[in-house]
Amino acid sequence: MLFPDYRPRRLRQNEAFRRMIRETRLTVDDLMLPLFAINGEGIQNPIPSMPGHFQLSLENLVKTANQAHDLGIPAVILFGIPEKKDPLATSAYASDGIVQKATQALKAALPDLAVITDVCLCQYTDHGHCGIVEGQIIDNDATLELLAKTALSHAEAGADMVAPSDMMDGRVAEIRDALDENGFQQIPIMSYAAKYCSAYYGPFREAADSAPKFGDRRTYQMDPANAVEAIREVTMDIEEGADIIMVKPALPYLDVIYRVRQETDLPVAAYNVSGEYAMIKAAEKMGWVDGPKVMMETLTAIKRAGADMILTYFAMEAAEMMMG
Ligand code: PBG
Ligand code: ZN
Repeated sequence: MLFPDYRPRRLRQNEAFRRMIRETRLTVDDLMLPLFAINGEGIQNPIPSMPGHFQLSLENLVKTANQAHDLGIPAVILFGIPEKKDPLATSAYASDGIVQKATQALKAALPDLAVITDVCLCQYTDHGHCGIVEGQIIDNDATLELLAKTALSHAEAGADMVAPSDMMDGRVAEIRDALDENGFQQIPIMSYAAKYCSAYYGPFREAADSAPKFGDRRTYQMDPANAVEAIREVTMDIEEGADIIMVKPALPYLDVIYRVRQETDLPVAAYNVSGEYAMIKAAEKMGWVDGPKVMMETLTAIKRAGADMILTYFAMEAAEMMMG
């Protein structure tokens, strides 16, 4: 295969050839849309660092989910902004909590749109950590029961899938047991298995009001420098019963997505997080990059690295582009 006998440009010379040899195809089926639910009526609070995204009260949430559904997006992932926060995150597992109510509203209005719920405590604790705090320490084992309660309450509200994002050790097994013991054997777990302690979550924490009030998340989320460790996390979650394995963030961790893809035959999800979205939107606004093109290139790259599905704030825009 040496020049001049082989000329790679032969198969790049027109769009028909390029389409024929294209290796990676992004489709609307690959996309999951994150949504932020808040109590109240008629609320649509813009999230400044995430243009096009809002904290939505239930009727507006249903409206947006309906648009996503019309575009062919198969699933949304729900985050809640509760009315009250306390040390035990009681609003996270209240049967009338914001995510529980939003799930009920979405399932009533759009039964075949899949509703995935993010399972974590950080939006619901007054200190903003993903687990129960003892002094300055995040108590792993004391947190497990509350995470399981939260996941169970989501399932009882009608969630189609639960997605624990807390990074406590052993939570997948605890959640699987709680679901199975209560008749929810059919509810899959999408585990945030390799979730890094990333500065790319900044805009999300503004959107969800979930920044830690002291310290940071380095004692539970992964060190950005580690990739081999991601395989241990993934292996552990698979053994505990995860159905889908997630890597998060996506673009700065394409190598991790690739490694995880080699390691497992379970579906792999990647979370194209808030900071990744914000950077592209900001550069587009400055006129420095072509936003839609950078978006499509980014999502394609995440799939090329090995992700089967992508959680992304671009879901609606990308779906619209693919519809043509
Ligand atoms: C909560 C959670 C976070 C994200 C998803 N679930 C933030 C965090 O861990 O601090 C980040 C999502 C994003 O940045 O888009 N545990
Ligand atoms: Zn959390």
